[in-house]
Amino acid sequence: MTDMNTLIGKPAVRIDGRAKVTGEALYPSDEAVTNPAWAFLVTSAIAKGTIQSFDLAEAKSVAGCIDILTYQNVGGAAKPPKPMAGGKTTTSMQSDKIWHDGQIIGVVVAESFEAAREAAQAVRVTYHEEKPSATFDSLGVEEEKRGKDPMHEDFNIGDAAKAFDAAPVKIDRHYETPTQHHNPIELFTTTCAWNGDKLTIYEPSQFVMGLQHSIAQQIGIDPDRIEVISRFVGGAFGSKGGATSRTAWIALAAKRLNRPVKLVAARDQGFTIATYRAETRHRLRLAADRDGKLQALMHEGWEVTSRPSDYNVSGTETTARMYACPNILTAVNLVHADRNTPGFMRAPPDTPYMFPLESAMDELAYALNMDPVELRRVNDTQTDPAKGLPFSSRHLMKCFDTAGERFGWKQRSMTPGSMKDGDWQVGWGCASAAYPSNISPASALVTLTGQGTALVKIAAQEIGNGAYTVIAITAADRLGLPVDKVTVELGASDLPAAGLAAGSSHTASICNAVSHACEDLRLQLAQKAVAANAPFAGQDFASLKLEQGALVSPGGARQPLSTIFQTIPGGKLTVYGENIPTGLGPDSMEKLKKGQMAMSSGTGRKDVTAYAFGAHFVEVWVHSLTREIRVPRMVSAFASGTIVNPLTAHSQYMGGMIWGLSAALHEKTEIDLNAARYTNDNIAEYLIPVNADIRSVEVIMVPEDDNRVNPMGIKGIGEVGIVGMNAAVANAVFHATGKRIYRLPIRIEDLLA
Ligand code: MOS
Repeated sequence: MTDMNTLIGKPAVRIDGRAKVTGEALYPSDEAVTNPAWAFLVTSAIAKGTIQSFDLAEAKSVAGCIDILTYQNVGGAAKPPKPMAGGKTTTSMQSDKIWHDGQIIGVVVAESFEAAREAAQAVRVTYHEEKPSATFDSLGVEEEKRGKDPMHEDFNIGDAAKAFDAAPVKIDRHYETPTQHHNPIELFTTTCAWNGDKLTIYEPSQFVMGLQHSIAQQIGIDPDRIEVISRFVGGAFGSKGGATSRTAWIALAAKRLNRPVKLVAARDQGFTIATYRAETRHRLRLAADRDGKLQALMHEGWEVTSRPSDYNVSGTETTARMYACPNILTAVNLVHADRNTPGFMRAPPDTPYMFPLESAMDELAYALNMDPVELRRVNDTQTDPAKGLPFSSRHLMKCFDTAGERFGWKQRSMTPGSMKDGDWQVGWGCASAAYPSNISPASALVTLTGQGTALVKIAAQEIGNGAYTVIAITAADRLGLPVDKVTVELGASDLPAAGLAAGSSHTASICNAVSHACEDLRLQLAQKAVAANAPFAGQDFASLKLEQGALVSPGGARQPLSTIFQTIPGGKLTVYGENIPTGLGPDSMEKLKKGQMAMSSGTGRKDVTAYAFGAHFVEVWVHSLTREIRVPRMVSAFASGTIVNPLTAHSQYMGGMIWGLSAALHEKTEIDLNAARYTNDNIAEYLIPVNADIRSVEVIMVPEDDNRVNPMGIKGIGEVGIVGMNAAVANAVFHATGKRIYRLPIRIEDLLA
């Protein structure tokens, strides 16, 4: 990033910003289809048992009701989606079985949304009900030690138990994090339209090719007959990553009617027809010598999942890598309950699992009477302790020092309860952030014209991540054009293959592919220009550069694109390019083209371990009488390699930090323990911060060059911002009050004497 002329790293407004704020941007349910019928889902009112019978008479009598799908008439027509993580999951309308509350058990199709809703509410269901098991400690849950898991690993390094026993200073604590639900502003929608034997699916998706192939497999048709379109996504964060059960039923409803069918699921249904962050429990043990050097780390996690699924997030794979430690033992357990299958939510493993580690590090610092930042410095390392591999780059302490200075950490007095402002107890806390640097294979088609415009086509996903803009920036930079001369087409499964917009991988995946395509385009164009003689006769074509709408030689000869393209048929040149990440073979592109996840994970490489790191500093105020908790300021610094667009990166980090604060103080899905049912399944009662809760949020981007992580040095930023913030807030609450809280979210009642 030393090249001052590059567009990479220069703040750029979103090229799709105007379309988004004017309503011109088409979110999937906005796409026009001819004469659609409307669907409304019927969902289960019990959490466990079977359907004995349906009484559909009243529903069918609703004016405008056209069709009602249940397991009885379509159950055999679609298989359940395969979860992204593999393994088994709950099913929806395949049979009479009820796996969880709010399961899809019927689809009503009508002439209007209102008629569909009215008819759906008139469907009478008789159940054979069994007593469900809701969560941890419920009667009937099944606990299982995680077996061999292709996605995850446990570590047993040295002799952690022995080292723990022998160490002079230790922490041994239990922690809990709650269930959280996605509440994207854009609801979970699906529109299906058949044209002969071709199906078009409009659905917000983080992986259009994954959805295409999943539905093909579920309803048993050739994937080439399906196109998925998702040009804009209004909030995803994992909830729109894998295929869920509703899509196949809407496709079948449209087929039965021979007419497009549109579903916009209700907000409360989003709690049970999509995935969520499951509740976790932890036992974390840390032991250190008197200088603070870690001697043992033992982290065991328990995660709730559905009855059949072995989905787990396994954040021990990050906690085992945070600090130098010779003895490490990790384990993950699954607790099966009568619940919908959980799934990805922003930094799925790291958000819940770093809470115990970063809380325990703070507690250990107090046990040692050592500054919490210094404890992290003493245990900082450039080597992944779990694998013995070097980090591709790691600037954790640079983040602590930069953000700490900005925050004024040096003025902190160590003693809890020692800082006051009137009736308020003031606390300062800090914590580390980390997230693996993942990347998928991706491909792109780039067209350059003699008018100095470019078009990039790629099956990427715009989920608010700024995908349109980072693609335009990369192409503009490589092709020597202004950003606004680049048009980007994405969000359709028949575009050149690209992977999942998840795991903070997308910018790295797509920009590296676009960069390759542009580089090949430059070479092909330069070759043609040299072959056409003047002004480049005899020059090495590879040395020619694209700058400001012209090809330029190192010696200063230049020729505008308009001239070069006069001799090129059609006046434009289209080039295909792809990027296969280090450690993956060409077969990864074939896997991707079959809609499978083909990700090179920052924790799975053989040469380096790749992570983005960060440091959070938080000030909390706790009222001495009411115990109300306020957070006047947060300062965080992150080192995430190359930042393609600092403007949108700033928003991503800030959003992560705010969500982290929300996880610490607000968010929890409440579960009715008798009914195994979510009770606050709406936006009014699902507590999230509002503007008045969020005061000063400062984001610092620590410059970082990483030439090992991927060619462009991009680490990804979407998730690292949330990780550790929950612990930073809890640590600040401890500093303010002297009370350490081991269960999230922290509430007033936790701080009453
Ligand atoms: Mo994100 S939880 O990787 O979609």
